[in-house]
Amino acid sequence: MKVAIASDHGGVHIRQEIAKLLEELKIEFEDFGCDCETSVDYPDYALPVAEKVASGEFDRGILICGTGIGMSISANKVKGIRCSLCHDTFSAKYTRLHNDANILAMGERVIGPGLAREIAEIWLTTEFEGGRHAKRIGKITDYENKHL
Ligand code: RB5
Repeated sequence: MKVAIASDHGGVHIRQEIAKLLEELKIEFEDFGCDCETSVDYPDYALPVAEKVASGEFDRGILICGTGIGMSISANKVKGIRCSLCHDTFSAKYTRLHNDANILAMGERVIGPGLAREIAEIWLTTEFEGGRHAKRIGKITDYENKHL
């Protein structure tokens, strides 16, 4: 699995924690910034990562901003992206099992690095269940193919 990660200025510390986790889990990843403590615009980081996942260049993405909301709204504009904003481990598990989420968003002003790490680990290691859930995702894909 190949993972793309990025954050805006509001998510730098959790992004660093996620990078450590990916190293420990021996999961290949690339960090797309930001490298700054000054203010940047979250769509400039969410959209390139979402496009890399949608194109198949990366299998999954993890995006962090202050709330996680800006990142998730932006990423979900890209066709083929199912980005889930998760601040608890139950949602992280079920968005993989049932929604086959390909991007995880979290907010550094909402949760701490310890919980973010647990959420990311569960999200990275849980497989999609398929079956009836695949049929539901198919309906989203059909909509995207017809309208986007
Ligand atoms: C940046 O101040 C903040 O708006 C951003 O990190 C994020 O929370 C937006 O959704």
